[in-house]
Amino acid sequence: MTTIHFPEDFVWGTATSSYQIEGAWNEDGKGESIWDRFAHTPGKIEDNSTGDVICDHYHRWPDDIQLMQSLNVQAYRFSIAWPRILPQGMGKVNPKGLDFYSRLVDGLLEANITPFATLYHWDLPQALQDKGGWPERFIVDAFTEYTDVVTRHLGDRVRHWTTHNEPWVIAFVGHQMGEHAPGWQDYVAALRAAHHLLLSHGRAVPIIRANSPGAEVGMVLNLTQTYPASPSPADYQAARWVDGWINRWFLDPLYGRHYPADMVAAFSEYLPHGLDFVQADDFAAVTVPTDYLGVNYYTRSIARDQNAPDNHPQVIDPSTNEHTEMGWEVYADGLFELLTRLHTDYRTPKIYITENGASYSDGPNGDGRVSDTRRLNYLRDHLMASHRAIENGVPLAGYFTWSFMDNFEWAKGISQRFGMVWVDFETLQRIPKDSAWWYKKVIAHNAITTP
Ligand code: FCB
Repeated sequence: MTTIHFPEDFVWGTATSSYQIEGAWNEDGKGESIWDRFAHTPGKIEDNSTGDVICDHYHRWPDDIQLMQSLNVQAYRFSIAWPRILPQGMGKVNPKGLDFYSRLVDGLLEANITPFATLYHWDLPQALQDKGGWPERFIVDAFTEYTDVVTRHLGDRVRHWTTHNEPWVIAFVGHQMGEHAPGWQDYVAALRAAHHLLLSHGRAVPIIRANSPGAEVGMVLNLTQTYPASPSPADYQAARWVDGWINRWFLDPLYGRHYPADMVAAFSEYLPHGLDFVQADDFAAVTVPTDYLGVNYYTRSIARDQNAPDNHPQVIDPSTNEHTEMGWEVYADGLFELLTRLHTDYRTPKIYITENGASYSDGPNGDGRVSDTRRLNYLRDHLMASHRAIENGVPLAGYFTWSFMDNFEWAKGISQRFGMVWVDFETLQRIPKDSAWWYKKVIAHNAITTP
């Protein structure tokens, strides 16, 4: 056994998002969100569950903060529900919505937990969707209006801001694959949505800086290190494509390179009018300097060109590796390679791992203990990979487990449990799992012990 120490000021956190934990979907003046609408539409959520009540964090947040504090958690990444603040998306502000987050932030600060607030984690006001949503350019102004309201109110106390969580998922899973709200299947809409997400980020950053001087501002991307399934040129091309679609389409513009030329060419079949939604000075806004990049990492991708005649035999075989209940391969080396790649290719100033975790449904045994060894191993292995990246010069400043507690896993409903804390969705009781007790010790020692 070896003990691996993390840098002195390394931030140990945990993460959630508004729709996934809050419940109280129509209380205190909150407007409907696209996830309320989606989850209420039969057939959209695998187990027919909804976020209507879910963890009832909206009422139980003081207990949740206490629990986090008892687990030594230093930072809490949460998101703000836009329709609580502006029920119609724009215009009239709902003071009760602001009050909720104000009390939450004060409670966190009293507990000595640093709030990391995300402005958009997918629950768009339905009223804005009814006007066309992310594919339409008006949404950029709506987002900056919302950003201004929130950061004026909380900017004195929240010192870490994220504009968007995972624009790739919002754009493509929501608008091209249709598995998430709003459930569209339209490639052009997805690319337009992606552009407006990037642009609204760029336009929001200076507003946040004005309202919250000295605070850190960044964006959170879901990134996946991509591997060709064989050494063939065809599989190499396939891997370039996946990397371009998921990673470079967002990283390149954020770090000053505009959209990657190979992908603009690749997407041209979907873009009869080219990139007509991009205006002359958009990229100047998108490339606004930020303080950090947030990285959500769960698994790698393996790219295979199934159509290439006589392709090489596949050499990467993920089947021998462990898979989580999401069906995601456990591959911690991918995190190391991703982090070093971000450092060398993009020179990102500072990185936080804003999400990392695993879905396993282990529940309480006879004496009420939740023995989630597989999650504990997953977290430990990814922390080892993170530490190796730090040793290689990557400016990794903190780590947030996904998730603090079991919650509403989008289209999968409550069937997938990512929490370090078990939630009984009938009684709403919380029980820290073994991984949570382990994480508590990791934080106390600022170190992990490796097998
Ligand atoms: C990410 C989301 C987060 C959670 C995890 C499992 O894509 O940001 O809300 O659902 O996946």
